[in-house]
Amino acid sequence: MKMTLFAAASSLALSAATLAQAGPQAEVLHWWTSGGEAKSVAVLQEEFAANGGTWTDMPVAGGGGDAAMTALRARVLSGNAPTAVQLKGPAIQEWYEEGVLADISSVAEAEGWDKVLPASIAAHMKCEGQWCAAPVNVHRVDWLWANASVLEANGIAMPTSWEEFNAAADKLQAAGIIPLAHGGQAWQDATVFEVVALGILGAEDFQKAFVELDQDVLTGDKMVAVFDQMRKMRGYVDANFPGRDWNLATAMVMNGEAAFQIMGDWAKGEFLAAGKAPGEDFLCASAPGNGFLYNVDSFAMFDVDGSDKQEGQSLLAKLIVGQNFQKVFNLNKGSIPARTDVAMDEFDSCAHLSASEMTSSSKDGSLLPSYAHGMALRGAQSGAITDVVTAHFNSDMSSADAVKMLSEAVANSL
Ligand code: GAL
Repeated sequence: MKMTLFAAASSLALSAATLAQAGPQAEVLHWWTSGGEAKSVAVLQEEFAANGGTWTDMPVAGGGGDAAMTALRARVLSGNAPTAVQLKGPAIQEWYEEGVLADISSVAEAEGWDKVLPASIAAHMKCEGQWCAAPVNVHRVDWLWANASVLEANGIAMPTSWEEFNAAADKLQAAGIIPLAHGGQAWQDATVFEVVALGILGAEDFQKAFVELDQDVLTGDKMVAVFDQMRKMRGYVDANFPGRDWNLATAMVMNGEAAFQIMGDWAKGEFLAAGKAPGEDFLCASAPGNGFLYNVDSFAMFDVDGSDKQEGQSLLAKLIVGQNFQKVFNLNKGSIPARTDVAMDEFDSCAHLSASEMTSSSKDGSLLPSYAHGMALRGAQSGAITDVVTAHFNSDMSSADAVKMLSEAVANSL
């Protein structure tokens, strides 16, 4: 009797295990761990589960994804790549060249991605003609976020030039308010730097400096002025800035401790997740200058064995570019859909501004890839630039020395 019960129990356990293993599987490496980010990635987990998939979460905390990319390298080197990875920009092609990415062209073709994605976004997702990544969104990096009542109480309008920004910051500082919420992490320094650079250099020279690595622009007078403005920015952050996470900086703007933050629109995801409303609690505006720095998040699938995992990759790729996911995810994430055929009526005024300026920028040549978020350059070059930006921000290095160091670092990285 005992034996029979045991046999029955173990065969039940076995069939439960078989059931649990059946169907599409995905282990997903990503760095979406802040409040707004977690809410956004949950949309994908839910859709995956609703379609019969089993999701194994592999979150690696750390804004900008530096820690996630280190974890990824360790996994791939040990021959145990995750099924799907949050990966973007030229890093996609770098991994493809290592021969470790799966080809997702059959999903892309069946779903007609070429018809629903702008050509410039599709180009980032292709490796030698085949589809090797699926885009989820378009984040804009060059935003200025502000606490609405702090600005109002201090008689300050959203600045439209860096001179106005400095004047507002001086006034706020005199009133005892931290002008700029910032986290001293290399990628956040780089984010502020590229936004200031776009404003001061203009779109054409931004492209020359951070896409073409043109030495004349990298060492020009306008680049000196960019570092001068960065020195000013350093004076507008509080003493506790080193190491602070970006979402904690956003929280400082929410609670009125600080007035402004310069950050991509994943910051809006934080405001929204905290129940704040654009135009009422917080303000968004394009940072001073003309242009649009884009940062497209995407997922690449790694070569893995097992039909359950491969099915998981196809399902995930299909869902990611699906119309419903692109809407719901981006409503939470703060970005706008990568697909061009998603209705925008549920999106807020910041998203509408982003969509219209993306269109106008693509017409006048000022739609540019973000260097700070890995869209413009390969890792060696963007890393070389960020090292200089951070070294300057965290010392009393002169702008002239920073420009000299920038020029050498870029030359040595090639
Ligand atoms: C960016 C990424 C965004 C957001 C941000 C902060 O690089 O594209 O989706 O997650 O980092 O973590």
